[in-house]
Amino acid sequence: MNMVATNWVAVGQLSDIPRQGARCVKNGDMTIAIFRTSDDRVFALEDKCPHKNGPLSNGIVHDGCVTCPLHNWVISLETGTAQGADKGETLTFPVKLDGQTVLLGL
Ligand code: FES
Repeated sequence: MNMVATNWVAVGQLSDIPRQGARCVKNGDMTIAIFRTSDDRVFALEDKCPHKNGPLSNGIVHDGCVTCPLHNWVISLETGTAQGADKGETLTFPVKLDGQTVLLGL
């Protein structure tokens, strides 16, 4: 499910996020993982796998997706939906770059 941005918040620099990895930010009780692809695109998802709440931020980023470290579900970074035969969806948030600054839409 895609959340609609009402407020853009600077959450750090692109270089703070490892390529093909993620960095987490807190929004109240929720942890949001900001992912960086090998070609420097950024995506933001709740850090919670739709299967059994695994920490997606610890997964491997590949081909516009992240593989959950717990049971290897593959989640689209763009839509938050589970790929293949698996069914489920993680919340996604708008995120963009202003130069090297990462802006998260909340
Ligand atoms: S918790 Fe992510 S695949 Fe099971």
